[in-house]
Amino acid sequence: MSTPSTPDVLRRTGGRPVKSIVFDEATIANRVEELGAEITEAYPDGDLLVLGLLKGSFIFLSDLVRKIERPIQVDFLVASSYGAGKVSSGTVRLLYDPETRLEGKHILLVEDIIDTGKTLKRLMGLLGTRQARSLAICALLDKELATEVRSELRFVGFRAPPAFLVGYGLDHAENFRHLPFIADLE
Ligand code: IMP
Ligand code: MG
Repeated sequence: MSTPSTPDVLRRTGGRPVKSIVFDEATIANRVEELGAEITEAYPDGDLLVLGLLKGSFIFLSDLVRKIERPIQVDFLVASSYGAGKVSSGTVRLLYDPETRLEGKHILLVEDIIDTGKTLKRLMGLLGTRQARSLAICALLDKELATEVRSELRFVGFRAPPAFLVGYGLDHAENFRHLPFIADLE
């Protein structure tokens, strides 16, 4: 198994050691499979549109949808909040709006990580006006700081430690998204 400074990790990071590997590949894969089963069970009928929030959810979403064993549609939302910093700015811009119709469908918004919840609160407000049949959130990681979107947060992969995490889609200034595990960058 990879440790923070084994050669395969350093090759991927360009020589920068990570502080620790918080969730390894096998742990993530097991949990994503469970989440897929939970989602399959939770939506016995109706149209289900899985909306991935880019860019952070791209790896999680692609693994997750292949573990959902019922018909779905997939589309994306692009919002931006963090810029290059490690602290949430609270400003959310919607850069791409899904083209797929939302009316009458179950909407499942897929997010990489919930920190303050500001990003999602803003998006839920926007999506809430579009006559969806239901609106819920699936987050791979939850820092458990956000209170405003608790009621819509229906599926959670892992409780996240209060650290800055990278990998499996999560970035720092657009780097490290490609790491197959989730690491504490420090
Ligand atoms: P929030 O609006 O504060 O909940 O921030 C959520 C967004 O911030 C996520 O979609 C991520 O893109 C980013 N984010 C929050 N925490 C982390 C982290 O630990 N590592 C990388 N990105 C993070
Ligand atoms: Mg980000």
